Amino acid sequence: MTEPHQFKTIIEPFRIHSVEEIAVTDQGQRQTALERVHYNLFGLHADEVTIDLLTDSGTGAMSSRQWAGMMLGDESYAGSRSFYKFRDAVTELTGMPEVIPTHQGRAAERILFTETLAAGDVVPNNTHFDTTRANVEYQGAQALDIVIEEGHDPASRHPFKGDMDLAQLEHILTAESSRVPLVMVTVTNNSGGGQPVSMANLRAVSEMCHQHAVPFFLDACRFAENAWFIKMRESGYADRTPLEISQEMFSLADGCTFSAKKDGLANIGGFLAMRDASVADRCRNLLILTEGFPTYGGLAGYDLEAIAQGLHEVVDEHYLRYRIRSTAYLAEKINGAGIPTVQPTGGHAVYIDAKQLLPHIPPARFPAQALAVEIYRTGGVRGVEIGSVMFGKVGGDGDEIPALMELVRLAIPRRTYTQSHIDYVAEVLIEVASRADEIPGYRIVRQAPWLRHFTAAFEPI
Ligand code: F0G
Repeated sequence: MTEPHQFKTIIEPFRIHSVEEIAVTDQGQRQTALERVHYNLFGLHADEVTIDLLTDSGTGAMSSRQWAGMMLGDESYAGSRSFYKFRDAVTELTGMPEVIPTHQGRAAERILFTETLAAGDVVPNNTHFDTTRANVEYQGAQALDIVIEEGHDPASRHPFKGDMDLAQLEHILTAESSRVPLVMVTVTNNSGGGQPVSMANLRAVSEMCHQHAVPFFLDACRFAENAWFIKMRESGYADRTPLEISQEMFSLADGCTFSAKKDGLANIGGFLAMRDASVADRCRNLLILTEGFPTYGGLAGYDLEAIAQGLHEVVDEHYLRYRIRSTAYLAEKINGAGIPTVQPTGGHAVYIDAKQLLPHIPPARFPAQALAVEIYRTGGVRGVEIGSVMFGKVGGDGDEIPALMELVRLAIPRRTYTQSHIDYVAEVLIEVASRADEIPGYRIVRQAPWLRHFTAAFEPI
């Protein structure tokens, strides 16, 4: 045994350099908070949350090299040195020469879709993330999810449950390629459980798109985690570095949207990158309208520095081994106590199957919302509902049309919590599950016309 990873314990490959206090509350305070926010966990003050697993987006801890890099930020309005460092890091990774910085992922989505979509178009994706879907629909286009069948089955142990259904893609491209301005694949497939997409599938999608002259874009938020799963699970990749695998993934695509708040290891930022210079020019014109000049795109120069450094750190093997292991660790602990989660465990989060844990609550009474509220009430742990609140619809008769799955996502911020924090979360979850049959369902009493999960008000039934 000479390498640290040959020991059973996979250590955090960093030590703590600066600490931040977390809130410790009692159950009475949490109940009062829940009533105030109408049982919508997005309404809580962060100071009311002890362990915040709402998202892995923008919540990671930056490294000392990233903080040091921020001091080098060049805040010039045009032609900032930090932009060129950022652009070079993105181009080295993606091979794409056109790099447009944006303040986060959804800004890249909005600009790309405003430029490329028209009303009546169709955008196939393995599974659209909520902001991606909303931005497609906002253009009057249809966001079509065509993940493989196994991707809808929380119990299936398929190694690449994020793969796109190639038969369905072929059908759409053959029947109506004129209505498909681009195809997207999300790596990893966040809304489907953080599941990876295989290189073989990416290659097949790429070839099919190119046969039909349709551009292929990656939603690349968690590209490094996806690359790690390819290294671990797909034959022929065990000896390749995460950077090489990532480069191969990007080489298959014509462009990508990216939120640097995930695998950019930064607290803010994103980009739109592509090969086509004329589309990129038109996107830059839109960027100037709402985000900023093309060499900063709504970010500070120091943010561009942090992202450039983050993109180097995120493909480090020691980091990725620890990252993927720490997520699996939580899932194994609670699975051991009988709590069902999406299998196999994804990269950035553990997804509890609320439909199975709370069979007494029908989808129209939002079982995953009910579970998320109970987890917060019990231990101050905040997760997020990914089920019928987020993806359900209200039918013409006012009835709820449920989502396919009812999940509570516990997203693990990068490099932020230690193993004892995760042990605490597991204890809370096991306690909640022990009285699952007492948990009540909820009804929505107020909601917005889109992205309702952020602001809806609920009441227990
Ligand atoms: N695409 C995917 C797959 C995402 O997970 C997200 C964000 C976005 C696009 C949008 O990026 O937030 O920078 O505008 N996901 C976060 C989450 C919010 O909690 O999963 P953004």
